[in-house]
Amino acid sequence: MTGAQGFVVWFTGLSGAGKSTLTAALVPELIRRGRRVEVLDGDEVRLHLSKGLGFSREDRDTNILRIGYVANLLARNGVGVVTAAISPYRETRDAVRAMVERDGSAFIEVHLSTPLEVCEARDVKGLYAEARAGRRPGFTGIDDPYEPPLNPELRLDTSETPIKACVAEIVAKLEQLGLLPAIAAEGAR
Ligand code: ADX
Repeated sequence: MTGAQGFVVWFTGLSGAGKSTLTAALVPELIRRGRRVEVLDGDEVRLHLSKGLGFSREDRDTNILRIGYVANLLARNGVGVVTAAISPYRETRDAVRAMVERDGSAFIEVHLSTPLEVCEARDVKGLYAEARAGRRPGFTGIDDPYEPPLNPELRLDTSETPIKACVAEIVAKLEQLGLLPAIAAEGAR
């Protein structure tokens, strides 16, 4: 889609809620629909752009504002951006939304509302166990805040909705907003 409007799909949710998994499933679908796509994943960004930052409120906000800044630069050049960071603070997410929308791109906030118990049971990285044992103070959802969005464009619980169905909901939302062609006609490809 040459000259297509840029957008930012902004996943937010606890560690283990499914942000990276869903990103990995969504991106090929967006590419298949003809979008140029970039991903900004918290874990990855913290190795490069946000190297050295910790998990205080100030550092998390710096991380999120950096991700938002880069996402905005890409989106205003027509890229479809997908971000996957906890982004626990409502005010900071709203600041990024305001920046993106001011520059003419769409901001689609997707709250992954997978319950803490499920994220903790998954404990893919073993960090919840560390947090419970007191070896990782300030862990989101355990002893650090997570502020859910009040009016996200979508709210999805990956413990109830299969990943494929989550992707379908996001794609439908993007279609509805005119950010993807309505039909990926099999014969047209
Ligand atoms: S954010 O709060 O700044 O948005 P980000 O998504 O970049 O966080 O990084 C979160 C990842 O860092 C988690 O998935 C987890 O693997 C790891 N992590 C390490 N310490 C913490 C912590 N105290 N709270 C949350 N996540 C942590």
